[in-house]
Amino acid sequence: EKGGYEHFMLKEIHEQPKAVRDTISPRIHENEIDLGEIGMTDEEIKNLRKISIVACGSAYHTGAAGKYVIEELTRIPVETDLASEFRYRNPIYQENSLVIIVSQSGETADSLAALRDAKAHGCKVLSIVNVVGSSIARESDAVLYTWAGPEISVATTKAYSCQLAVFYLLALKFAQIRSAITPDTFQTLLTALKQLPDQIEGLLSQKEKIQFFANHYLATEHIFFMGRGIDYAISMEGSLKLKEISYIHSEAYAAGELKHGTISLMEEGTLVVALATQDALYPKTVSNMIEVKTRGAFVMALSTKKHPDIEKYADYVLYIPETQNLFAGSLAIIPLQLFAYYVSLGRGLDVDKPRNLAKSVTVE
Ligand code: F6R
Repeated sequence: EKGGYEHFMLKEIHEQPKAVRDTISPRIHENEIDLGEIGMTDEEIKNLRKISIVACGSAYHTGAAGKYVIEELTRIPVETDLASEFRYRNPIYQENSLVIIVSQSGETADSLAALRDAKAHGCKVLSIVNVVGSSIARESDAVLYTWAGPEISVATTKAYSCQLAVFYLLALKFAQIRSAITPDTFQTLLTALKQLPDQIEGLLSQKEKIQFFANHYLATEHIFFMGRGIDYAISMEGSLKLKEISYIHSEAYAAGELKHGTISLMEEGTLVVALATQDALYPKTVSNMIEVKTRGAFVMALSTKKHPDIEKYADYVLYIPETQNLFAGSLAIIPLQLFAYYVSLGRGLDVDKPRNLAKSVTVE
């Protein structure tokens, strides 16, 4: 059942190229994106004034990345909320807005409650769900399924990657309908999107290198992740993956926030995983890398070959293939999933069933 892999998590990490391909391919026809499933007219899409993305855990992290992508391409204001916060804060629902609920299981209690609240206020709800026929799927006005297939490991990997891909499709489609991007930009981005599954496949071949690196950090107590923009959203997921299966304390920081507190935690040898995939933010992130290194941190950086000078500022560099900046998160997360996996494995922990955690959180 594990298809020759030692754990479901490793199997599911390897299923990501296929899962992402299965999620995007049926929706791309001859250089056009077909999202008929959302049941919205072009007029409704053009009139959208606000999008609220609501989810828990890793699904919330895809929403955090989705916000950057949707806002950048469509210029529609997006707010991303944790379901457990959204449902209790008397959220402002306005006309011509869309609530997007993201959930692998489709049964998460807080996400379902947020959905019901939005519907009770007359809001249109679109969900991004993996389990067909689940409660969230049934109660939404429309569903965009992620076609990841069953996910067994408690730590999500392939469903997360598919959720990101759905956000890209949605952002591109909305941007096209609203004429927020040129036809050329649309085609360039669509071409890059279609390349992602093969690029993810290529990254999986770096796993021995990541295992080797992970094995040096099995006894460490704290690990920090940092980045800006989309890199920050991906840092949050990298940090959550690590803490849930390795039990190592870890935090993700918006790199610009370092000086406002976290830098006091840097000591000789502290591991900082720095994401620097976003070209426009690259010099800023590099300056944060220098700051932590000056305090003795060991910096492991993730970037692209476009930035070879990163080797001067980081102690160890992992490169991801070139893609459009907006999609880089889909590649950067792969080494971070593998890192969490190998740290957990090296520590002899129950990778697929970490203590105290359930695959589906059906009580609040
Ligand atoms: C982390 C993880 C959880 C879930 C969260 C939401 O690896 O799996 O953080 O992402 O419990 O679950 P779903 O997506 O089923 O609503």
